[in-house]
Amino acid sequence: MARVLVTGAGRGLGLAFVQNALQQGDRVFACVRKPERSEALQELAKQHTEQLTLVKLEVTSSEEAEAAFHAVSQHVKGLDLLINNAGINSMSQGKDKAGPTLRLNELEAEPMLWMFHVNSIAPVMVARQFLPLLEKGDNPAVLNVSSWLGSISGKSRGGNYGYCASKTTLNMMMRAFAFDVKEQGVRVYLFNPGWVQTDMGGSKASLTPEESTASMRQTLDQLTLEQTGEFFDWNGSPHAW
Ligand SMILES: NC(=O)c1ccc[n+]([C@@H]2O[C@H](COP(=O)([O-])OP(=O)(O)OC[C@H]3O[C@@H](n4cnc5c(N)ncnc54)[C@H](OP(=O)(O)O)[C@@H]3O)[C@@H](O)[C@H]2O)c1
Repeated sequence: MARVLVTGAGRGLGLAFVQNALQQGDRVFACVRKPERSEALQELAKQHTEQLTLVKLEVTSSEEAEAAFHAVSQHVKGLDLLINNAGINSMSQGKDKAGPTLRLNELEAEPMLWMFHVNSIAPVMVARQFLPLLEKGDNPAVLNVSSWLGSISGKSRGGNYGYCASKTTLNMMMRAFAFDVKEQGVRVYLFNPGWVQTDMGGSKASLTPEESTASMRQTLDQLTLEQTGEFFDWNGSPHAW
């Protein structure tokens, strides 16, 4: 039984991480921007009253992250796994608003900065906020959901500036964090989840959210503190930076 916290837990990969953890008997904290509007999580919470707690968290809000930390601290003395899953891509606001982070001739600073805030900066701020609980965890880990699109060596075409660069930056932020917290015994990894059938990945994607999240959790169990700060595929293959 692990004590697990997931961000962006209301749908897609986040919801699948929650379902997978509940099946394993974990104690789960599902962080979501609007708990009252997340029907899937409300339903799960009714079925798993002792196991699942919904926590309000817009990941860019330091006030909400602090409140979430205090809420979780009332239930558990330590955290074994923090999953930084919440993220946006150029299509998250709708196709018609994608251009300013996607195409060279349409780039705008503000939408790019928001993407960096959500995808790159918030994960390290949330992890830092929960560090006192992680330090008291059992073989604790931070699993960061990155992307193959964050790989610099894998970039072979133009466009998609905001998303690709925000995941590259996430990789660097969490690699720095990994070395900062290594002495405290907290393991930190970057994961490419694969191409997954979610609102973001679309229905033609090759993996289901269940397959991707189950594989990442299995891989995580085998990773050591010596491998902290490394970048992996969902199935544990090393990923090129
Ligand atoms: N699907 C793929 O093929 C794929 C591939 C590579 C990487 N990824 C990464 O996997 C992660 C999950 O993506 P997904 O495919 O499950 O996408 P999704 O279906 O679009 O879900 C995104 C999740 O992130 C949450 N979120 C977005 N902005 C947030 C914020 N500011 N604060 C809190 N929560 C926020 C959303 O919450 P709301 O419901 O409140 O909007 C939602 O729960 C992301 O980091 C994504 O970049 C996905």
